[in-house]
Amino acid sequence: MTTVHPYTVLARVYDAVMAHVDYEGWADYLLHVTDDVLDMPEAPMRVLELGAGTGLLTEALLAASDWHITVSDRSEDMLSAAQARLAGFTERTAIDPIDFSGPWKAMGAPFDLQLLLYDGFNYLLHPEQVGHLFEGVRTAGKPGSLFLFDQSTPHNSINNADFFEDEGKAGAFSYHRSSLFDVEQGMHTTTFEIKGPEGGFTEVHRQRAWTLDQVSALLARHALEVVEAFDGFSLDPAHEESERIHWVVRILDA
Ligand SMILES: C[S@@+](CC[C@H](N)C(=O)[O-])C[C@H]1O[C@@H](n2cnc3c(N)ncnc32)[C@H](O)[C@@H]1O
Repeated sequence: MTTVHPYTVLARVYDAVMAHVDYEGWADYLLHVTDDVLDMPEAPMRVLELGAGTGLLTEALLAASDWHITVSDRSEDMLSAAQARLAGFTERTAIDPIDFSGPWKAMGAPFDLQLLLYDGFNYLLHPEQVGHLFEGVRTAGKPGSLFLFDQSTPHNSINNADFFEDEGKAGAFSYHRSSLFDVEQGMHTTTFEIKGPEGGFTEVHRQRAWTLDQVSALLARHALEVVEAFDGFSLDPAHEESERIHWVVRILDA
């Protein structure tokens, strides 16, 4: 097995790995939050989607809204898959390869809304990296604009250990996924073994299971005001045992 960076070969099987995810349902939830709960304008909004992966959520959002979305990710392989998927939406999409774990600036700023969904945040392992994400978001937005992101918590890893192994096929590829959670360190490690026509590859994904309090403290440090912290996919307030938290934060000054 050859070890490669996360989201290189995985880009080839990612859609199959995520086949269980209801992306239309995610898009409906997000649009309900932006349109009905936050009362954001229905006019075409300029949106930056960070960590957009292969564009599965982007496609569902574009189909259900008038949004113009700049699609970004640090993995070239994931972004190429997104570009192919979104070929029917070229007038409402742009591509920008952003790595938000270091200093970054987005093309086409300022944006009305920024998104980072489905665990991209958990790939940030240190507070300094979260600082780079938040400072970049402040620069890419404008005073009063919103950043909506989600995170998985230690409870998600602890409560869902039954789903720590999976395997499947996607075209000429087969994959095996296995996870470990280190409760003391709050570190979730997932190993993918992917076999295909070019051989066998291993990707090791390390993610931090941040707690509600840790993220609250980091937001406050970066002048991002918490508008809402929802218990995953609901409009109920997040709490200490939430498995997933959807944060809506406002940029106080850019
Ligand atoms: C679990 S996938 C989610 C993709 C997509 N949002 C979805 O819902 O299917 C996490 C994505 O975050 C991206 N990612 C992780 N760390 C990143 C970083 N520092 N900068 C940009 N993208 C990052 C990965 O490349 C990957 O595409």
